[in-house]
Amino acid sequence: MQATADSSQFAFSSSTQAGELSQRITELGEWFHNLDLHGVKTAPNHFLGDFPNVKWQRISPEIPARLDGATVLDIGCNGGFYSIEMKRRGAQRVLGIDVEDRYLNQARFAAATLGLEIEFEKRSVYTVDEIPGQFDFVFFMGVFYHLRYPLFALDRVIKKVGGKLLFQTMIRGSEKVRPWADNYPFWTKEIFHDPDFPAMYFIEKKYSDDPTNWWIPNCAAVEGMLRSCGLKMVAHPESETWICVPGEVKRNGQYIHELEWNGLL
Ligand SMILES: C[S@@+](CC[C@H](N)C(=O)[O-])C[C@H]1O[C@@H](n2cnc3c(N)ncnc32)[C@H](O)[C@@H]1O
Repeated sequence: MQATADSSQFAFSSSTQAGELSQRITELGEWFHNLDLHGVKTAPNHFLGDFPNVKWQRISPEIPARLDGATVLDIGCNGGFYSIEMKRRGAQRVLGIDVEDRYLNQARFAAATLGLEIEFEKRSVYTVDEIPGQFDFVFFMGVFYHLRYPLFALDRVIKKVGGKLLFQTMIRGSEKVRPWADNYPFWTKEIFHDPDFPAMYFIEKKYSDDPTNWWIPNCAAVEGMLRSCGLKMVAHPESETWICVPGEVKRNGQYIHELEWNGLL
C-alpha cells in the first residue's frame, strides 16, 4: 500500500494563516518530530529539545549537500523529519515507512505543506525486504530498541542498503568500546560482570513510560551487532548514531539470517 502526499487533502500554502496551520497540526495529534512548517513548530515542547534537529545538526555534515538522483528509504519515518531533509537536498526518490497512521498522516501533511514530493507507506521494518531494489541512503533511526526482534529487523534492513545506512538507537550502560576475544571457554563467567562487555538490556514492562522500549543495547553491543550483520562503520557522528556501508553482508551468496534459517551457520 503506497501513498504519496495528497495535496488536496493536506496542503497549505505559505500564505495560509498561522492560526489555521496550528489548528491542523493540533488536529493531527501529538507530534514526536518538531518540524518547522512555515514558521509554525509541530512539537515545540519536546522533552529532548528541538528534536530531531539537535541530532541532525551533528549527522548532516556526513551527508552530501546535494543528493540529486539519490534514493532514500526512511524506516520508522515518524513525522518525516529525515525524509524532508533528504528531499530538500534534492534526492530523487524518498520513501518513508512507518507502522503508525498518526505519524504517517503527520508526515504526509508536513510534506504537502512544504510542497515536497515524498512517498509515505504503511509498512513494518519486518517486511522491508519486500520493497523492490536498494537505496543509496537507508535511515534506521530510533526504531531498533522499539522492536521485540531487533536483529531480525536489522538483518532485513541491510538488504536494502545500496550505499549508506544511518543507524541510531537509544543506548544505556557502558559507552566504552574495547577489544574482546573471539572465543571464551565455557567456564569463563567474569566477562558477564564487566559492564563494557556487549550487552542488551531487556525491558519487561516500561522504560520512559513506553512499553515499546524492549531492548536497549550498550555501545559495544551496537557495534558488535552492526559488524555481525556484515556492515562496516564509517562514521560515528554522535553518541547514538553510526553510519555504515555494506561489507561482507553475504557469505557463500547468502545473507546471515538465510544461513541461520538454512542451518548453515
Ligand atoms: C522513536 S521514533 C523514531 C522516529 C525517527 N526515525 C527518528 O529517529 O526521529 C520510532 C518510530 O518507529 C516507528 N516504528 C515502531 N515500530 C516499527 C516497525 N515495526 N516498523 C516500522 N516503524 C516502526 C514508530 O511508529 C515511530 O514512528
